[in-house]
Amino acid sequence: MHETLIAGRPPGVAIGAPKGSIPPSARAMIASARIARRVRELGRQVSEIYADIDTPLVLVVILKGATVFAADLLRSLSIPAELEFVSAASYGSGTSSTGRVRLAHMVEGPLVGRHVLLVEDIVDSGRTVDAVAKRIRRLGPASLRIAALLDRPARRAVDVKIDFCGFVIPDRFVIGYGLDYAGLYRELPGIYSLR
Ligand code: IMP
Ligand code: MG
Repeated sequence: MHETLIAGRPPGVAIGAPKGSIPPSARAMIASARIARRVRELGRQVSEIYADIDTPLVLVVILKGATVFAADLLRSLSIPAELEFVSAASYGSGTSSTGRVRLAHMVEGPLVGRHVLLVEDIVDSGRTVDAVAKRIRRLGPASLRIAALLDRPARRAVDVKIDFCGFVIPDRFVIGYGLDYAGLYRELPGIYSLR
């Protein structure tokens, strides 16, 4: 099978690659078993912190990258929780932040008086979670915390407090476990860095 490369893609990231295949330029960073263990731990921590709230916790998931993490985190909880989604994007199809955050979809249910946990795949510049958190705060939640599977502090531009963090990673673009490169590779069970 021949590789069709798009301009600007790292070498080896092919279009039409078979589903589940890992680009040749990718390097394993976090194995799926390690992610699973860590997400279960986070689930326990979240369940403990919110043990005494009298309404179900609301997970507000930032589309699309955080959906895989959120699905596993939700199933690691021992407390009732609801799901809401927001759509925010600060990236085009490249590997560096454009600095703009676009909010295309907001939560459907009212968040007044609710305990909200914002779920993000990776905090890079911090602009995405910061922008979403600001919008959510205007809706009058009882509390707002942030859970992020990955924290990449090297390119932070906005100060963000991550309440529940899976892994702190070095300054590498990553794919897998929900994270994409140009829409691809979200299905990979582990996390890989692109060189
Ligand atoms: P920030 O707004 O700069 O913090 O960027 C966060 C958003 O950019 C995340 O929600 C991801 O969707 C995306 N992003 C940042 N870094 C990566 C990466 O290494 N791989 C895939 N997506 C990323
Ligand atoms: Mg995202």
